[in-house]
Amino acid sequence: MVMFMVTRKETTPFEGQKPGTSGLRKKVTVFKQPNYLHNFVQSTFNALAADQVKGATIVVSGDGRYFSKDAIQIIIKIAAANGVRRIWVGQNGLLSTPAVSAVIRERVGADATGAFILTASHNPGGPHEDFGIKYNMENGGPAPEAVTEKIFANTKIIKEYLIAEDIPDVNLSVIGVSSFDGPEGPFDVEVFDSTSDYVKLMKTIFDFVSIQKLLSCPKFTFCYDALHGVAGIYAKRIFVEELGANENSLINCTPKEDFGGGHPDPNLTYAKELVARMGLGKSSPQGEPPEFGAAADGDADRNMILGKRFFVTPSDSVAIIAANAVQAIPYFNSGLKGVARSMPTSAALDVVAKKLHLKFFEVPTGWKFFGNLMDAGLCSICGEESFGTGSDHIREKDGIWAVLAWLSILAFRNKDKLDGEKLVTVEDIVLQHWATHGRHYYTRYDYENVDAGAAKELMAHLVNQQSSLPDVNKIIKEIGPDVPNVIQADEFEYKDPVDGSISKHQGIRYLFEDGSRLVFRLSGTGSEGATIRVYIEQYEEDSMKTRRDSQAALAPLVDVALKLSKMQEFTGRSAPTVIT
Ligand code: G6P
Ligand code: ZN
Repeated sequence: MVMFMVTRKETTPFEGQKPGTSGLRKKVTVFKQPNYLHNFVQSTFNALAADQVKGATIVVSGDGRYFSKDAIQIIIKIAAANGVRRIWVGQNGLLSTPAVSAVIRERVGADATGAFILTASHNPGGPHEDFGIKYNMENGGPAPEAVTEKIFANTKIIKEYLIAEDIPDVNLSVIGVSSFDGPEGPFDVEVFDSTSDYVKLMKTIFDFVSIQKLLSCPKFTFCYDALHGVAGIYAKRIFVEELGANENSLINCTPKEDFGGGHPDPNLTYAKELVARMGLGKSSPQGEPPEFGAAADGDADRNMILGKRFFVTPSDSVAIIAANAVQAIPYFNSGLKGVARSMPTSAALDVVAKKLHLKFFEVPTGWKFFGNLMDAGLCSICGEESFGTGSDHIREKDGIWAVLAWLSILAFRNKDKLDGEKLVTVEDIVLQHWATHGRHYYTRYDYENVDAGAAKELMAHLVNQQSSLPDVNKIIKEIGPDVPNVIQADEFEYKDPVDGSISKHQGIRYLFEDGSRLVFRLSGTGSEGATIRVYIEQYEEDSMKTRRDSQAALAPLVDVALKLSKMQEFTGRSAPTVIT
């Protein structure tokens, strides 16, 4: 057995190691600076309670992006030196973010106390792209702000880190245990199968047999795009091996360190190949598009759901899942505890909650806010406009879960139709939903990598403007005479109903008298400059008017949003980088 010593290394703080919405995300070149990662990992250990470090079992894995393997070896050595008892690593260092959450929760009895997740989610990967690291706690969810603030404070004063340099690099490609002996006793690194805990959990939630029947129906065609992220390994295991989908229904399902040079973000702009296959691209697809398509982001917590030539907005997706869950998904058969959405997400879910008399919560952007509600038993299903959907089975959003939820709904709706003429399609389900609940037309404009100063000024201008509603309404009338009046304008503030904590400045809102909304936020997940997001939403209750093109329906409100915010004046941008 390899013996190791603990070395204390002197170090000096780096600026800017503040974990954002979802961990610390920076360019790989920043992470590769000597001691940069070491400082952050040691600062994290210093922020945790002693029993979460000494003798603890910690999961370390991620979406497989460039620098992950080096980072895992470094974290192993620092963990050993800090008295951690055991490190669990998914084979090849791969675990999706939802799978990490599942592993922590599943194995909590076996002492899993937390996890380092190595991902920058939907940001590109590669030597000149992004890397990221975040810490998740024993409930399987991201560290709360109190912890991330402590980590940040520690990074500013760090003087030394501990490292076990004698530990050789562990072979991450082979399942098995490597054992070492240190001054505080034994230390093990266990490489385990990346998919089995997660698959086991999915089988307790969904009726795999009915989904399998749907997938084996020749009329039902399916396509899944992992965008070269970690979702690929779960897609192969679940959709192909467990549920019998054809192997060629998977595209980009081999994880790559640079995501094939692409942007692993499942939306209409970046999931180009899938979008083309589904008949939503500019050119017509080869052959008839599949009935159902879906994509994931790099770490597989996000999802995009598509029907044939049809896009399901994430805001509609969570509402439709919530409306159908009790009948279609065994895990929810006994009812929903409540539902929740992030503030900028459309109010489609609110309508479902009202009709089904469900507890409903509107939280700030960031999945961690849902976690508190779930831990308190207040929320079963939640979702965000940013292509995140999930439930209380874990404490992260879950891209594969969302696909299985939709497949379950389709399987349920088509139970008696598999041998018939025509199947109920994704589009049918959405149109029916709009007909009964009304439709929330919705779009989001993103201005990426804007000068940070200019972005701040724009936001300050919007806040200033809120002090006089009559003035706001005068401006609006000049831009779009048919746009209704703003009746409330504020910055969203949230009081957590569980722990009473207050989160301020969570997005600038303009609420209109017909239920329409404009929301402005600065992204918390970018790694360079600032990203301004503008969320535009309009409710249409009249079932005769729910089938318009959403960009056309929203055009007057978009115009108001851009002029009210003086977007072009402040940023110099005449068009957004991405529209979803
Ligand atoms: C991450 C979080 C999500 C959140 C999103 C917001 O993906 O996990 O919960 O919605 O970031 O990103 P943004 O760039 O809008 O801050
Ligand atoms: Zn992600």
